[in-house]
Formats: sequence, C-alpha cells, structure tokens
Amino acid sequence: MEKIALAQLGGGANRIAKQHEKKRLTARERVLYLLDEGSFEEIGMLVTHRTTEFGMDKEIYYGDGVVTGYGTINGRLVYVFAQDFTVFGGSLSETHAEKICKVMDLALRNGAPMIGLNDSGGARIQEGVRSLGGYADIFHRNVQASGVIPQISAIMGPCAGGAVYSPAITDFTIMVENNSYMFVTGPNVVKTVTNEEVTSEELGGASTHSTKSGVAHLTSPNGIECLEDVKRLLSYMPQNNKEKTPQLPYVLGEELREKLDTLVPENANKPYDMHEVIDGVVDEDSFFEIHKDYAENIVVGFARLAGRSIGIVANNPMYLAGCLDVKSSIKAARFTRFCDCFNIPLLVLVDVPGFLPGTDQEWNGIIVHGAKLLYALSEATVPKVTVITRKAYGGAYDVMNSKHIGADMNFAWPGAEIAVMGAKGASEIIFKKEINEAADPAAKLLEKEAEYAELFANPYTAAQRGFVDEVIVPRDTRRKLIKAFAMLEHKAVPLPQRKHGNIPL
Ligand code: COA
Repeated sequence: MEKIALAQLGGGANRIAKQHEKKRLTARERVLYLLDEGSFEEIGMLVTHRTTEFGMDKEIYYGDGVVTGYGTINGRLVYVFAQDFTVFGGSLSETHAEKICKVMDLALRNGAPMIGLNDSGGARIQEGVRSLGGYADIFHRNVQASGVIPQISAIMGPCAGGAVYSPAITDFTIMVENNSYMFVTGPNVVKTVTNEEVTSEELGGASTHSTKSGVAHLTSPNGIECLEDVKRLLSYMPQNNKEKTPQLPYVLGEELREKLDTLVPENANKPYDMHEVIDGVVDEDSFFEIHKDYAENIVVGFARLAGRSIGIVANNPMYLAGCLDVKSSIKAARFTRFCDCFNIPLLVLVDVPGFLPGTDQEWNGIIVHGAKLLYALSEATVPKVTVITRKAYGGAYDVMNSKHIGADMNFAWPGAEIAVMGAKGASEIIFKKEINEAADPAAKLLEKEAEYAELFANPYTAAQRGFVDEVIVPRDTRRKLIKAFAMLEHKAVPLPQRKHGNIPL
C-alpha cells in the first residue's frame, strides 16, 4: 500500500506543485479526467528504471515517469499512456518505453484506440542509446498499428527531439495553446546552427503547428479542453479497422433545408463560405473540423448524417477561390486516407476553379502533392458521394471525387459549371482568331463566352454522360445524401493483391 501511495505521488509534492503552477495537470489527473469515472486500470505502476550511472540508483520513482493502462471513454475501451513530467521531466527511459510498448501491444491485439498524452523532456539523458532504442520500439509499433486502430496524440507540455516522431505517425495530434511545444531541435540548437533567434512558442507552439506546418490537427485552449477534444474525436471513429462507426439514434424527418437554395451567389466570382453548406447538410452541431486554420481553401472534418459518422472534404471559395494547392492537397489526402482506413464514408463538396497557378506552387511540387489527393480519393473504397455546388474545372474536377475515380453517387446543383475551364478563358483560346478579327472584339468575346457558357457552364452535359447522376435542388441535398449513404452502407470492393500501393509522397 505504501508503494502505491508513493507511485501516485510521482516525483513528489513539490514537483506536482510546480506542474500546477505551469497550469498543467499531472499525468494521473489527466488520465482520470479523460476516462469514464472508475474505469481506469493501471498497468505497471511499480516499474522502476534499471540505470545505475550518474547516481541514478539512488533516484528511483515507481512508474518511471509514465502512467499506463486502460479504461473506457463513453463506455468504449481505450488504452492510454500519460507521461509524468514530475519524474525526470517525463523523460523516456528504457523501462518507460517498455511500459508504453506493453499497452500499445495490448491495444493492437484487442482492437481498441491508443491515446498518448505527451509531456516530456525527451530521451532520458542518463540512459543514452537505451532510451533511443525505446523510442524506436514505440515508432515501430505506431507504424504496425497505423490503419488498424485509431491512434491519437495529445501534446500537453514539451515534446522535443526524437519524441516528436511518434505523434507524427499517429492519426491525430492535438496541442494545448500557449502551453505545449514540439520541435526536432530546440531554440538553443537553432541559434547555434542557423543563428536564428526564436522562442519555443514561435518555433513549435500550437499556433505555429496549426497554421504554418500543419503538424497539429487541432489546438485546445487548455488541458481540460484538450482531453475533451480527444473524447469528441473518438466519438466519430470505430474501435478498429474492422468495425463500423457508432450509429447514434436518429429519426428521419422531411430533411429539406431551404437555406441552401440561396447560399451560392448569382455572380460566379463571388465567394461564399462552404461551412454554411456543410451546416445545412449535416446533423445539427455535428461538424468537427480538423486542421481548421491550415490550408483553409479546403475544409476537412467529421460530421454525422442521420446519426452516422461521415468524413467531409470540401473546397472553400472563401480562400484562394477554393483552388487546390500544395498544402490543401496534402491536408485533404491525409484526412481521406484516415477515413478510408476506418470505414468512415466520405462526402466531397466541390467548388473548385482549378489548381493554384504560379512558380511557387510548381516549384514546391504541386504536381506530386496534387497527385496525393487524386490517389487518396481514387484508392478509397468507403462509400464516396460528391456534390458539386458550383465550379468543377479542369484536372481539379477529376481529382475532387469525380465519377471516373470511383465516386458512388455524384450530385450537382443546377448552377454547377463543369468544364475544362471558365467560359472567358476558354473563349479567348478557342475563338482567338474570330475575336481578333471582329469589328468589336470585346463584344465578340462576350458573345462567344455566352455561347461557351450555354454549352458547358452547366451540369447538364455531364449529366447526359452520366458523370453526374442527378441534378438536385440545393434544399434537397441532405435528404439525397442520407438516402445515398444508406444505400451504400454495405458497399464492398475487392482489392487486387499487393503489398501496398505507392502513393506519391
Ligand atoms: N532526461 C533526464 N531528466 C530530464 C530530462 C531528460 N531529457 N529533461 C528534463 N529532465 C529533468 C530535469 O533534470 C529536472 O529534474 P529535477 O526535477 O530533478 O530538477 C526535471 O526533469 C524538470 O526539468 P526542468 O529543466 O527543471 O524543467 P523546465 O520546465 O524548466 O524545462 C525542458 C523543460 C524540457 C525544456 C528542459 O528540461 C530540457 O531542455 N530538457 C532536455 C531536453 C533534451 O535535450 N532532451 C534530450 C534530447 S531528445
């Protein structure tokens, strides 16, 4: 009993007080908040490190800086580890890593999500390569578990050096704002090597990683909200890749949403916010956006449709006119692949004028990165439904879950324009001679533009071909989607035998 009391104190009352001063909960407090009351069962509470160098044999703490075990969240089994900063700064020793690996193995064998609460000074400096080996043991397990069980990382304090690569491999990384950071090399090393002066927050805080690098999928204002976000995120997911997503009770009504009829402006060059379309289609307050402040020209997130989880990928004309670029392609591709791994059907909302032009994009590899999204949507075998709300131009039309790359149902709103390019650009090219030779070239261009628009800037040519299954009035979108996804519920696609595809990384 005395041992248990000691283990529960971690690095001792003083260090716990210090942790609280930093507005951070302790590892144990976090685990208890995260899991259903009374559900936590700890594993390896009395484990201690085996190091004798540097006087370490005189500094022994039960648990060795990490609390591990299992419990439930909303009644569903999860496995968890929480690093305890009060013990050697939560640094990772050989035994600390062994404890994490033990619960990861259990999670994988038993098909339940793995949640890591990170708060650590990195490798246990006194242990050298033994600690590095421990990291790699974890990374390897992260990879083995990828696509089999959901893996979520919360960054609730420091996470530096090699430690960052476990969260990077997991499915979602959530950071606490102004109270956590992640970087491969810290400000001191940066200063020495590149002479740059940068603070930890600027280099790797939540704001940096949610806007600049995209490393963080979500940020939360404090530790409690961060744990709430973990719970909310899990609510959309199945336990593993063999299960379906949880179905909340839902009674169907008439499901028409008249607000959608007036959302898209008459003028095709005027923006509107795709979030409003999403809100008009999904169950009330069910949209949970991922990567909200990163590559805002594409919106991704989870929602519920008649109680069932779906993943949404949607161009947003509010930013860069909804063009696809390097960052948005990577963002949407990764999200698509997560949904496909875990049997979460995909809804793709399209309003895309094309790929963003320019040297910046080309030199940064838009060809390869755009291909990621094309590849991801094309390989996904979950039910896939598309709604073209306005523009679907050029190669981006193909990429955005077109019929040709395997979408199951493709809807378009009556104002949709599905063509190689906009009517003006197209007319300037194909009627160049006629326009130049006209008495009034400007008038001729307008005339030709109207001619081209009449022919192509509508959804009907695509519908005649069957590339669009149905042209629907916006207000009917939600009803159509509920029916389409229900119809696709038992979709099964046999896959060719191969080790794995070779997505352009
Ligand atoms: N290995 C062993 N012990 C570590 C450690 C590590 N990697 N990181 C921190 N600690 C210990 C400290 O010695 C200190 O011990 P104490 O409570 O007995 O005094 C305790 O953890 C808290 O660290 P402290 O430096 O006082 O906390 P802080 O909040 O001021 O700073 C860090 C936190 C993470 C910025 C700082 O501890 C740090 O830079 N650690 C080393 C990071 C690193 O280079 N890791 C190795 C490469 S991956």
